[in-house]
Amino acid sequence: MSKIVLFGATGYTGRLIAETLIGRGAAPVLAARDATAVGKLAADLGGAETAVADVTDPASVRALLGRGDVLVTTVGPFLKYGGPALTAAVTAGAHYFDSTGEGPFIRRVFDHDDEARRAGAALLTAFGFDYVPGNLAAALALDEAPEAVRVDIGYFITDPGTSGGTRASMAGMLFAGGFALRDGRIVEERTGARVRGFDIAGRRLTGASVPGSEHLTLTRSYPRLRDAGVYLGMPGMAAQGLQVTSVLTGAVARVDPLRRLAEGALNRLVRGSTGGPDSAARARTRTWAVAEASDAAGRVVASVTLTGGDPYDFTGAILAWGAQTALDGGLQGVGALGPVEAFGLGTLADGVAAAGTTR
Ligand SMILES: NC(=O)c1ccc[n+]([C@@H]2O[C@H](COP(=O)([O-])OP(=O)(O)OC[C@H]3O[C@@H](n4cnc5c(N)ncnc54)[C@H](OP(=O)(O)O)[C@@H]3O)[C@@H](O)[C@H]2O)c1
Repeated sequence: MSKIVLFGATGYTGRLIAETLIGRGAAPVLAARDATAVGKLAADLGGAETAVADVTDPASVRALLGRGDVLVTTVGPFLKYGGPALTAAVTAGAHYFDSTGEGPFIRRVFDHDDEARRAGAALLTAFGFDYVPGNLAAALALDEAPEAVRVDIGYFITDPGTSGGTRASMAGMLFAGGFALRDGRIVEERTGARVRGFDIAGRRLTGASVPGSEHLTLTRSYPRLRDAGVYLGMPGMAAQGLQVTSVLTGAVARVDPLRRLAEGALNRLVRGSTGGPDSAARARTRTWAVAEASDAAGRVVASVTLTGGDPYDFTGAILAWGAQTALDGGLQGVGALGPVEAFGLGTLADGVAAAGTTR
């Protein structure tokens, strides 16, 4: 019988997913690199099957999976540690979900599209707060306005807390290249190259451009789409600061020894597996994902805003929902899929609402 395997279960986000899955009555295999820590987690949650695997030993990750299983992985930073779980899922013919927000890794998952189709595996990358709500908001806006050929998506968070794993992933991305959908094609584009304003809860807020999954996913359901922008909300000064920083890090990234030196220093300073915001802090956080669809003349013809709670709570809930729905046969395809393509718009909207984010 097929099963859900949660890899990275002992991490901050992994634990949230494990709690939600077990709370929903699922029986996931909790997998992690530390046998004692994963045994304790399973006991804390009232008992669950456990397994030990480490990305430095890819065969141990492959051994977690059989054909038709559903793998959820939160082992990050993904640019550094994500490869073995992705390869293991494709090799086994298992469905794959990850929590990455790292644009270059998202792109790498889409490079496995053909291989995954042949293996009968669905690959769902960035299936967390980054970037499920934006995919849904954009699809709702594009459905409302058949004349739209461009969509701009903004993510905004009040009182954001971050986990050690998120900070480590952000540090790992500093020197990686960005991309965007321009004129119907994926092109290289620096993170922070563009800054844009959005109306959120009566205020005009600023976001800086990031390489989200929407650039890669939306044209699959809406082939008429020519351009997409994904923006992460930040104060105006910080957005402009990111523009300058990304020019500088881009310059460093082109000089190999400098890049290795800077990456080494960052790895020592910014560490994962150090926890994240507690439940009281998470309860104070609110989030918005807004999508503005425009026609060929640049007029905004549809706008959809989704609002919800904390991004980690959302990520825990939506990954648990996605994995359970996939296990129950609810996937609509194989290969590297966007969230809308994988579940259909109505079912995805129901899943996102159940995870606390609604229009
Ligand atoms: N898309 C989103 O909106 C979203 C939301 C939340 C998180 N994330 C991302 O998800 C990732 C995890 O975040 P987090 O907050 O859970 O971070 P975390 O607490 O640092 O968790 C990282 C996990 O990776 C495991 N790990 C590290 N090296 C490993 C190895 N060699 N073999 C096997 N496992 C290994 C850690 O194991 P130990 O427990 O043994 O240390 C831990 O379970 C990050 O990349 C973060 O950016 C994204």
